[in-house]
Amino acid sequence: MKNDKQNFLAVDELLQLILEEIDIGIHVVDQDANTMVYNRKMMEIEMMNEEDVLHKNLLDVFTFQKNQSSTLLDALQKGKVRKNIKQSYFNNKGKEVTTINDTYPIMKENKIIGAIEMVRDVTELKQSVQEGILKNRNTRYTFEQLIGTSESFKNIIEDAKRSAKTSSSVLIVGETGTGKELFAQSIHNASKRATKPFISQNCAALPESLIESILFGTKKGAFTGAIDKPGLFEEANGGTLLLDEINSLSPNLQAKLLRVIQERKVRRIGDINEKELDVRIIATINEDPIEAIANNHLRKDLYYRLSVVSLFLPPLRERFEDILLLANFFIQKYNRLFGHRVTNLDENVTNFFLNHNWPGNIRELEHMIEGAMNLVENETTISATHIPSRFFNENRNTSTTPVVQRQRDVTLQVESKDEKSNLKNTLLNKEKHHIMNVLNEHNGNITQAAKQLGISRQNLQYRIRKFNLLND
Ligand SMILES: Nc1ncnc2c1ncn2[C@@H]1O[C@H](COP(=O)(O)OP(=O)(O)OP(=O)(O)O)[C@@H](O)[C@H]1O
Ligand SMILES: [Mg+2]
Repeated sequence: MKNDKQNFLAVDELLQLILEEIDIGIHVVDQDANTMVYNRKMMEIEMMNEEDVLHKNLLDVFTFQKNQSSTLLDALQKGKVRKNIKQSYFNNKGKEVTTINDTYPIMKENKIIGAIEMVRDVTELKQSVQEGILKNRNTRYTFEQLIGTSESFKNIIEDAKRSAKTSSSVLIVGETGTGKELFAQSIHNASKRATKPFISQNCAALPESLIESILFGTKKGAFTGAIDKPGLFEEANGGTLLLDEINSLSPNLQAKLLRVIQERKVRRIGDINEKELDVRIIATINEDPIEAIANNHLRKDLYYRLSVVSLFLPPLRERFEDILLLANFFIQKYNRLFGHRVTNLDENVTNFFLNHNWPGNIRELEHMIEGAMNLVENETTISATHIPSRFFNENRNTSTTPVVQRQRDVTLQVESKDEKSNLKNTLLNKEKHHIMNVLNEHNGNITQAAKQLGISRQNLQYRIRKFNLLND
């Protein structure tokens, strides 16, 4: 590197450009643990804003438990180098991410003057490997394996069991990790379709251009390279097709889907003939369906067709009484797998579990226990030292809003954050009062009120819980 000024500046700009463009997350702190570099990829991985992290102290942004530290702090304080460390965690928005990290101290004249973390995001790689396995895997879950004693959860299981007796479509609503896939599998396995295929497809995972041919199949010659290939509807014939994240399909595709469901016939792309089908559809959605309709993420006609039975799975933070029960269930599971004899959580961890926001819900809880069990040696109690420090970072998990992907939220985009939340709150208030009025008109009769509101009973019950109307 030459040292004349002009050249030096150019290198500086070049480095800036590389930091922006590189597909590796880079986080650098100075000797006081203040963040100096937090590049675009890092923001993307952790879903944090630059202004929340840059020039701030690591300890102000991320909360660490006693006896806990971050890999960056370890590098800074103890000069520890760590390479190829795999971490799976739930980021600021509740999305599960898997990364491979390298962390180094930055040395000058034998003194540590900072630390750098380089993070490779392997989330998609991991998902595609898992999805590949899933396709060949048989459905494993049955209702007996679903853990939960809270009243609301038991009611949902009852509704789901009843739905297993029919072939009506089911819409499962819930945040990520609340058990939508498990419910769908359990319904299939309890139905008379159990010996027939169960096919699951995440609609958000595929590009729009491919989804149609994957769902409906193709006929040779339909377009360049097209071969005779059945779609997932045909493959699932006689069984169940689980369409995950239905709200990520374009309205156009949703209309096509509705036609297939209504007519019970599918036509491969490029084919003139239709084929009769007997497929049970279970769809999932990770946002409130009424809001999804309002935001143009879900067609109203498709919603009515799909929600013959709707199951609203509560987020874990609302299943207070089930948190420790589930934790214990996962402890037993990993005791068996790892040959440990863990029996309980200490008070710190118990309190943390009961107060954590669980943006990744039950999946997050299971991963946390699995991670802790990896660190257990001869202990019989899980304590704070077994829980990765970033999980204790409640700064990043204070939001109670469900994790929602609003891919086509064009109508609201022009409004400022405040206007948006005002509009949302106003609408929610209106909705709440309207529901209260209709319920009062019908003396609290849910069936009649739901009928007048044009929504299902379950949907109304969900809203009653959401707005806490019983306690108002
Ligand atoms: N009631 C339950 N009892 C036991 N384990 C559960 C239960 N619900 C969920 N789990 C666990 O949580 C994990 C996530 O569940 P599942 O895959 O069904 O979530 P999901 O709602 O489909 O999430 P996503 O929206 O991210 O696809 C499961 O692998 C399972 O280990
Ligand atoms: Mg799922």
